[in-house]
Amino acid sequence: MKYEFTQEDLTEIEKIKAKYPDVKAATLPALWVAQNRFGHVNDDVQKLVASTLDLPDAHVHGVANFYTQYYKEEKGKFVLDVCTCLSCQLCGGYDILEHAEKKLGIKSGETTEDGMFTLNEVECLGACGYAPMLQVTNDKYVNNLTPEKVDKLIEDLKSGKTLEHEQIEMPLRKVK
Ligand code: FES
Repeated sequence: MKYEFTQEDLTEIEKIKAKYPDVKAATLPALWVAQNRFGHVNDDVQKLVASTLDLPDAHVHGVANFYTQYYKEEKGKFVLDVCTCLSCQLCGGYDILEHAEKKLGIKSGETTEDGMFTLNEVECLGACGYAPMLQVTNDKYVNNLTPEKVDKLIEDLKSGKTLEHEQIEMPLRKVK
């Protein structure tokens, strides 16, 4: 497959480049433009970003591969990143992951046949106080997970419901 940016993408990348004195600084946001356009930044897309920014392929490759948020291969429409790091693990993160695997009929790291969901086990996402939790496609967090909540999330995403940001009550601190 040949990857090409649209004129709109190229305009956006030019705007990004104009913000920085060194074009290397535009690498991260340009990769986002690419991922938003193609759904991933595989080797060919990384090369496209490199040539668009007039940077060496190796530079863009190194940056893209450093961050897990950039998908180096095609993923499902929705990527469910289930945290199994310490706090989430202690609060049942592995049970949540196993439940999601059963519900979707895939193992962690796989994509459903219909291309709707990719399931991943990930490290801490910085929401340990709301464990166990998962993130949907580098965006919204779904917290305090239960198997029922996972089921509802998957059904909502399947039926095209817009996922709302969860309103999270902060723990009250008593000031003496
Ligand atoms: S351990 Fe899961 S968000 Fe930090």
